[in-house]
Formats: sequence, C-alpha cells, structure tokens
Amino acid sequence: MYEKAPETIWWNGSLVPWDRARVHVTSEVAMRGTNVFEGLRAYWQPESEQHVVVHLHRHLARLAQSARLIRLPQAESAESVARLLDGVPELIRALRHRGDLYLRPTLYIDEGRYGWRSGQVKLGCYIAGYPTDPRVDRPMSCVVSSWRRSPDLAVSPLAKVGAAYQAFRLPRIEAAMAGADEAILLNTNDTVAETGGAAVFLVRGDTVVTPPLADGVLDGITRGIVIDLLRSRWGMKVVERSVPRSELYVADEVFVCGTLDEVRIVSSVDAVPIGGGTWPVAEGVRALYLDICAGQQDPVDPAMLHTVSSAPPGPDLQDRSTGSPPL
Ligand SMILES: Cc1ncc(COP(=O)(O)O)c(C=O)c1O
Repeated sequence: MYEKAPETIWWNGSLVPWDRARVHVTSEVAMRGTNVFEGLRAYWQPESEQHVVVHLHRHLARLAQSARLIRLPQAESAESVARLLDGVPELIRALRHRGDLYLRPTLYIDEGRYGWRSGQVKLGCYIAGYPTDPRVDRPMSCVVSSWRRSPDLAVSPLAKVGAAYQAFRLPRIEAAMAGADEAILLNTNDTVAETGGAAVFLVRGDTVVTPPLADGVLDGITRGIVIDLLRSRWGMKVVERSVPRSELYVADEVFVCGTLDEVRIVSSVDAVPIGGGTWPVAEGVRALYLDICAGQQDPVDPAMLHTVSSAPPGPDLQDRSTGSPPL
C-alpha cells in the first residue's frame, strides 16, 4: 500500500486533490463493494515522450459490460463510461509522471441501495493512477487453491465487480502461507480457471492450451493479445479447452498473463518444478509483449496502443509514493 498517495485523482469528471474523493461509510459501494472497475497500464515511451495505454477502448467496453452484468442503470453507466474515456488521458497528463502508470477506472453506486432503475441510485466514478512498481523478472511459484472460482450462476467471472474480488482474498492468503507467489483457482467442475488477476496458459509440445471463458475465466485483454501473438507471430496452435489440474504438473511450460502481471513464467505448481529451468515459449512471449508495450516492436492490432502525449515536465510522482496499487 501507499505511504504517500498521488496528489491528484480524477473524480466524477474533474481532477481533484486525492483527499477530496470520498464516499459515505454507509454507501452501497463502501458496504457491499458495489462497483465495477478496470485495471489499465500506461507505458511510458521515453523516445517519443508519451504514454501508450494498452487497449483503452477494450477496457472501457469491458467496464460497460460489467456494469450491464450487475444491472447498473444503463443510460447513466454509458454516460459515465464516456466520461471515464476522456478522463484517462486527462489524468495521465495531470500526473506528469515520466514512467509507467497503473490506472483504475471505477464506476460505483454512491447513493441508493440494491435498486437498479434510473433515479433509484446515484452513480459515482473515478480514476486512480499510480506509478507502477519495478517489474519483477523472476519466474513465480504457484499453488492450486482449495477455494473455487465463483461460478457464472453466482457472480459471473465475466464481470469485474469489486465485491467479487473477496473470492481471491483467501486463495492469496493460502498461497502466501504456503510460501508461494500466487494461487491458481479451479472452477466448480474442478478444472483450471485462472488466478485472481491473470489467465493461465500451458505449453504442450507444439500447442499452447488455455481454459475457455466458460471455465470461469475473465475475458482477459492480455489473454487475447497473447493468443494473437502466438498465432500470428510464431504460427503456434492455440487451443481453448478445459484443463484438468494434473495437466499443470506435466506441462512443458506454464505462464500467466494479465494487465498487472504482464506475462509471467510459472516455475512451479504446488512445489512441482515446471519446465526444467527453461521456458522458451513463455520467455519469447514475455519479451515480445514487453517490447511492443515499450514501442520497440509493432503490435498485431494497431489499435492496441492508445497514445497520450505528455504534459510539460513536472515533479516526478514516483518520488512521492511507494508500494503497489491496492489489488
Ligand atoms: C480475475 C482476473 N482474471 C484475469 C485478469 C486479466 O485480465 P486483463 O488481461 O484484461 O487485465 C484480471 C485483470 O483484470 C482479473 O481481474
């Protein structure tokens, strides 16, 4: 967590001092976590002195989808999403940070209870932006959690709803208690779903396998980018199919991908080493993904990188904060 927060936050259409963005303790968002959110990365490209946001429009389209899935009022949600779209570049410029940023556009119920008709609730929205932590290059260790990914008929894994992330708290504690970096969750059919923040991929010979959305997987934006890269840059076969737990232990390679994790190699699952110390496919995808975000290689889809030209140089936000964005 932050010792010192950023000075500025975008809140309901305006840039305001961080401490001004408040909700009441009894509000629906504070009490039941009724919000939908996105996590975006804005990569700083020093040669061109600009930030590039990865798939800004796709992220905000998914935010609108999450709002629809939990039946936030549609007209008000659409209006807020349009404001958030403008707010992202505004905030990036205002932060004046010459480095990578993590941004969290969020839409929440400020006033009113479970109501879903227009007029019954008042929505609020904000975007918080943080300098990202230094990248962790080492491969990570995972455990398979004893907790399950919530089924579609409970809280849909397709919706990024704040309250739903409570379901990742205990798996993460379980992983930490086992001395591992991350937990992989199975779904209620006992096949592999995902981690609390990333899609899971397995390399099996010349084929790469990842669980389908129906197996309790968020429609991950990085997941889509990685599938495109594997197919179009290396001609690899990528198959979306259910993955039994045991297959994790015998895969040639396992890696995860998501906005925050980017592409991370998994070196062990439940203390079983994966891949014998080399992970050529995962290392290749990771390097290519990071090069694209750094502007050193072209993306498969030119719409992937949304450019935000920088404001005149100002004080560096990184100097004033530490730690990672609150997950
Ligand atoms: C549960 C979950 N799975 C996967 C992901 C990765 O998705 P993306 O690549 O769109 O960041 C995230 C992050 O948003 C997530 O919260």
